Amino acid sequence: MLHTELTGRLGVVFPIIGAPMGGVAHGRLARAVTEGGGLGMIGVGSTDAAELIEREAPVASDSGRLPFGIGLMAWALDRNPGLLDKAIDARPALVSVSFGSPAPYVDALHEAGIAVASQVQDVAGARAAAEAGVDFVVAQGTDAGGHTGTVGTLPLLQLVLDTVDVPVIAAGGIATARGLAAVLAAGAAGAWVGTCLLASPEATTKPEARAKVLAARETDTVLTRVFDVAQGIPWPERFAGRALRNRFTDRWHGREAELATDAAAGSELDGARRTADYDMAYVYAGQAVGLVRASRPAAEVVRDLGEGAASLLGEQLDRLLDGETNDRSGSPHPSS
Ligand SMILES: Cc1cc2nc3c(=O)[nH]c(=O)nc-3n(C[C@H](O)[C@H](O)[C@H](O)COP(=O)(O)O)c2cc1C
Repeated sequence: MLHTELTGRLGVVFPIIGAPMGGVAHGRLARAVTEGGGLGMIGVGSTDAAELIEREAPVASDSGRLPFGIGLMAWALDRNPGLLDKAIDARPALVSVSFGSPAPYVDALHEAGIAVASQVQDVAGARAAAEAGVDFVVAQGTDAGGHTGTVGTLPLLQLVLDTVDVPVIAAGGIATARGLAAVLAAGAAGAWVGTCLLASPEATTKPEARAKVLAARETDTVLTRVFDVAQGIPWPERFAGRALRNRFTDRWHGREAELATDAAAGSELDGARRTADYDMAYVYAGQAVGLVRASRPAAEVVRDLGEGAASLLGEQLDRLLDGETNDRSGSPHPSS
């Protein structure tokens, strides 16, 4: 089995966090991830009301039986501090405060016995989160789905591991056992996965969006602000969102200033969202979308990641340290 600071601290079987995904990861998905052996999180989106937490926490925890997490955004919390009280009242095991400084919120969460994580996108952010006293720094690479930064997961992970002393979790682009094994071998305490759960039946993803996820290749995403600009959502400019490329991004990406004053484009996007027309509306997804080929129960996805990584690490370590050659499937064969 795999033992890391994450499995030890949170008491989970696998070092896997089901990412908080606003509008996608509600109680049902969080619970399924936890039942699969990871820790599932509820995503509180930038436009969600605090009532979402009241409604979804009992579903995630199966009425208090299971641990779960809640993902908040620092910039949205600064505008709606009531979210923090609701999150604390829900008694999660873990709260993440990402996209801005977690510092104002760490003490209150710790006083309530809640572990704190923060997703960071560069070394300065990692240092600041560690200084703020978070329990886990999540190195979120640009490969990730949803809002993120511009540095790839692998360089960011190496930099952050060399920068902070607290356990580091890797986020962005991890969707198979190979990905989990790679970040654990590098020294991460676990993986924080979102895109690989987008097509799971427990996610709130609409069927039309799920079909887009299943059809998308690794080259089909774009890091863009156009959906936030069109909806007038005040995301800090340094965080764009990685979404599937579609007609809306093809038309507006790079023309954000013009888009901001085009009311018709905003209405068109609203209409497309209402009618589930994802040639225009957004489907946030990461580059690992190219690895999502079936709609599989989240617990099964988590178990395959965890069990697969454990056996891959065992096989690969034996092979690498013994100096044997092997074929691409990872099974050793004698060298001639
Ligand atoms: C649809 C979607 C919505 C997301 N919403 C949030 C969110 O509300 N809060 C948050 O902290 N991160 C959010 N994220 C980012 C995830 O927490 C995480 O960093 C990302 O999914 C990891 O990369 P991966 O998608 O390649 O697995 C979202 C990601 C996706 C795909």
